[in-house]
Amino acid sequence: MIVPIEIVNPHTISYPINIDTLPNLTFDTKVAIITNPTVAGYHLERLLGLIDAKELHVITVPDGEEYKNLDTVEDILNQLFEYKLDRKSLLIAFGGGVIGDMTGFAASLYQRGIDFVQIPTTLLSQVDASVGGKTGVNNSYGKNLIGAFYQPKAVYIDTAFLVTLPAREFAAGVAEIIKMAVMFDKEYFEFLEEGDLKIESTLKEAIKRCVTLKAKVVNEDEKETGIRAVLNYGHTFAHVIENETRYKIYLHGEAVAIGIVMANSLAVELELMRPQEASRVKNLLERFGLPTAYPIQDIDDFYEHFFLDKKSAGNSIKFILPHGIGHYKIVKDIDEAIVKKVLMQFKDHSK
Ligand code: NAD
Ligand code: GLY
Repeated sequence: MIVPIEIVNPHTISYPINIDTLPNLTFDTKVAIITNPTVAGYHLERLLGLIDAKELHVITVPDGEEYKNLDTVEDILNQLFEYKLDRKSLLIAFGGGVIGDMTGFAASLYQRGIDFVQIPTTLLSQVDASVGGKTGVNNSYGKNLIGAFYQPKAVYIDTAFLVTLPAREFAAGVAEIIKMAVMFDKEYFEFLEEGDLKIESTLKEAIKRCVTLKAKVVNEDEKETGIRAVLNYGHTFAHVIENETRYKIYLHGEAVAIGIVMANSLAVELELMRPQEASRVKNLLERFGLPTAYPIQDIDDFYEHFFLDKKSAGNSIKFILPHGIGHYKIVKDIDEAIVKKVLMQFKDHSK
């Protein structure tokens, strides 16, 4: 199945998102696959067997979010020069979101921009990171602060790559799927409640629906001046949690799961969501083994951290909240006392 994506503003950019067994891919140009040793170890041989190109190179970078930086991108660029890739050449991002974000960024920079395609191999990158053209790296000031909006030429989503994915990484991807359902589509949420993602056809359907929703959002708002911010549901809280735990305890999707529960508690407090609806979301997250609790040590500190988030403009925090299940509401300037009252529900009382 193919989900089309079409961004029309300022100029039309469209590309297909193929959700199927990876087909043979023929390129009349030089191609460089960017991957890491983990993904290459499991799946590179299969990929190489499917690609036919004028010249084919493989560039392997170290595995890990800590290598998602300008140094690694520069290493990639240097190797592209060594291999004499030209402006018609193409990069293939073969890995999770880290590889996808860096490959897209390197593609946007190399000789002022060459084509790239995404072959995402984690669930998170299949349902989220590979679609929509956000590329970039981290630096000492924070995550994803350097980058470009740069769309791929195509995305190939093949669930067969997920068989080697650790269960925690799979669940982290599910958190982003649940995020989309709660924000945009009640019927999709019910499908997730009733379905079993271990069944191949159900998983494919879940991915297709998620990607379709994301494509719609990106079509409308590529540069995140409006509705794309809704994709940050749960993230305002998650970023504080990731920061407080120095990115060492939770995978991003796990922190998002906790963030979703916190955002829902705020929505309940503001009477945007019924407590039973919040429980349904929490139960679904827990069914996938996702964490839903976080012991906040210091409420004031946690609250202050919101203002360090790059997505909170100036001094006002924009909360992305559910309005029931399947609808969202962006709420600004919530009274500090209300937010802190909700955070108290997560306070660590063990000390
Ligand atoms: P990741 O890329 O670090 O992959 C997670 C781990 O799984 C890595 O160790 C990786 O080597 C391994 N892996 C990948 N595929 C595998 C497979 N098939 N089998 C076994 N192991 C495999 O993490 P991620 O969760 O895919 O992506 C997170 C990154 O994506 C973050 O840097 C985040 O900022 C970014 N992101 C970007 C967007 C976007 O719109 N561009 C959206 C969400 C997240
Ligand atoms: N993952 C958020 C976005 O693509 O905007």
